[in-house]
Amino acid sequence: MSQKNQTLGEFIIENQSSFKYSSGELSRLINSIRLAAKVVNHEVNKAGLVDIFGSAGDTNIQGEDQQKLDVYANEKFINAMTNRNIVCGIASEEEDYFVTINSQDENNQNKYIVLIDPLDGSSNIDVNVSVGTIFSVFRRVTPVGTPVTIEDFLQKGDHQVAAGYIIYGTSTMLVYTTGDGVNGFTLNPAIGTFYLSHPSMEFPEDGVIYSVNEGNYVHFPQGIKDYIKYCQMEEGDRPYTSRYIGSLVSDFHRNMIKGGIYMYPKSSKNPNGKLRLLYECNPMAFLAEQANGWASDGFNRIMEIQPKTLHERVPFFVGSKNMVGKVEEFMKGDKT
Ligand code: AHG
Ligand code: MN
Ligand code: MN
Repeated sequence: MSQKNQTLGEFIIENQSSFKYSSGELSRLINSIRLAAKVVNHEVNKAGLVDIFGSAGDTNIQGEDQQKLDVYANEKFINAMTNRNIVCGIASEEEDYFVTINSQDENNQNKYIVLIDPLDGSSNIDVNVSVGTIFSVFRRVTPVGTPVTIEDFLQKGDHQVAAGYIIYGTSTMLVYTTGDGVNGFTLNPAIGTFYLSHPSMEFPEDGVIYSVNEGNYVHFPQGIKDYIKYCQMEEGDRPYTSRYIGSLVSDFHRNMIKGGIYMYPKSSKNPNGKLRLLYECNPMAFLAEQANGWASDGFNRIMEIQPKTLHERVPFFVGSKNMVGKVEEFMKGDKT
């Protein structure tokens, strides 16, 4: 049962018994993500000062190389999850291949696989707009104590045991699920503690916000063009409104609170869309379903897609159930 002023640390301990696998390990994993989130948050907040104190590629006052924030975030999250005897492999949008953690050691009992988009929406950094981090957690399918293989990473989203995101916005939040609903925690920057601020988050069943890069309109499939026209055309008092930040985490977060749909369809330029199944779509799909929403590639449930490669892309529609359902009807050509 949640209580007032509950911290993320307290929440993890209180709720770990509801997790069906060995709970202590997953708690430690979430704790390591919480730690990295605070470190990255600190750096993101200073981003506007980079031009004052030295641009990426320069060395800072301690003689360390300054790095682009997505590389920095990648390193911080990987470091936080390494050497804690929980994670045996990490795949990241920023790495060509997966990283193996101690799992070649036969005494190593680490069971968890993490897939991560360390900095989502990174083009927004330069203009002081919200960015995020997305993570997805699986149990390995190969035996413990053996080296991880690609098979451990190419699991259907349905097998996720946890997923979440951090949003570095006007306030910083960590939002995650372990398959028992979605909860959001807001960082109090003065004391560096996350507090439960958004218990049991849910998408409204329907919404009025659609989020899509309409600059690609002419390249979209006919079904999506028709859906966008449906949102725009006045019929009675259809109240749709368009909001697109260009950072999946931020668009998703707003739509979950207010009701809406985020779309990144395929286009004649990008036949599989842009977003990555493993680092972006699967974790957001798990969160969406846990929050009474839905996620689809236009025809199929995202979490049932069998991944074939680490960095594969997929068209993505996520948000309020009825809105995603409507897009699927248009894609099937049932609606014109
Ligand atoms: P990333 O910064 O991790 O590469 O992800 C950016 C993604 C997503 O967050 C965002 O919604 C989308 O790309 C924006 O793409 P467009 O600029 O093509 O609209
Ligand atoms: Mn991204
Ligand atoms: Mn990224």
